[in-house]
Amino acid sequence: MIEVKGVTKRFGPTIAVNNLSFEVKKGEVLGFLGPNGAGKTTMMRIITCYMPASDGIVKVAGHDTLTDSFKVRERIGYLPESAPLYLDMDVTDYLSFVAQVRGIPSNVRRERIKKITDACGLEKVLGKDIGTLSKGYRQRVGLAQSLIHDPDILILDEPTTGLDPGQIIEIRELIKRIGREKTIILCSHILPEVSATCDRILIINEGQKVASGTPEELATATEGNITVRAKIHGKDAEIRERLEAMENVIGCRVITGGGSSPSTFVLKAKQEGDIGQEVFKMVVENNYSLSELRIERVSLEDVFLHLTTKEREAE
Ligand SMILES: Nc1ncnc2c1ncn2[C@@H]1O[C@H](COP(=O)(O)OP(=O)(O)O)[C@@H](O)[C@H]1O
Ligand SMILES: [Mg+2]
Repeated sequence: MIEVKGVTKRFGPTIAVNNLSFEVKKGEVLGFLGPNGAGKTTMMRIITCYMPASDGIVKVAGHDTLTDSFKVRERIGYLPESAPLYLDMDVTDYLSFVAQVRGIPSNVRRERIKKITDACGLEKVLGKDIGTLSKGYRQRVGLAQSLIHDPDILILDEPTTGLDPGQIIEIRELIKRIGREKTIILCSHILPEVSATCDRILIINEGQKVASGTPEELATATEGNITVRAKIHGKDAEIRERLEAMENVIGCRVITGGGSSPSTFVLKAKQEGDIGQEVFKMVVENNYSLSELRIERVSLEDVFLHLTTKEREAE
């Protein structure tokens, strides 16, 4: 439904998007995740025809964003980072105005607005000025605005920024509900936001793709993503050799214990199998004794932090 091929966007010396390629399939909800300044908003502006790429091709439902921008705009609903709302208009007037701009014939406008305002839970505030609404309601108006022409693609840029926890849950539920019928890109710098709502996540950093997959795939993709800490009494060198010989173990480090306390063996293990049980079995079979066994799994959050902070740490 959306194809992005080798897209680069430069602002003078800044490379906001750097040779980025990805696809979004029909009906998919893609989480576009990255820290602030990663290039998310810039990429969305290119997809929605707000600005051209410096390089590369974007196609939406087969239409090129450069040569066929009207066709592209018809298919897409866009909720920008700060929704362009007219604060002194009431909700109904604002949505009629947007409907008019979108070229929706006047005889169906009223019906369309009713449908959208019902779907977005705006029934109670139709006659109120947008400026008097809470941030949560304003965001619903923004969402209604993006859906008024019944697009099959929806692009949401940080849709819950500035909302309180209750409003965040409401907006997420709303997005999930709407998402059943649409293809969606949801941009966010907040991991739980995308892992709660999206089928697939694409992580970008400094304009480049650093990972993509389902939340589960991303959490299991990094090798050595399980750390086992075992305190084992016995001969350190011998124990280490036996641990390293285990099939699931990628590496072993020994933290030598002081005095009579045992050494700690820190293992990096693969995802497969039950590494805890294997270590325990090895200990029993060799008459060692085990005083502590701790298994730490890498979470999706760790993966995200690892992928997006590597370079800063190295500096
Ligand atoms: N209109 C612009 N002019 C100059 N630099 C820009 C412009 N828009 C974005 N940038 C720069 O491009 C980079 C990516 O920004 P942006 O796409 O807004 O990231 P994100 O949405 O992921 O926070 C940043 O370094 C930002 O300062
Ligand atoms: Mg942004």
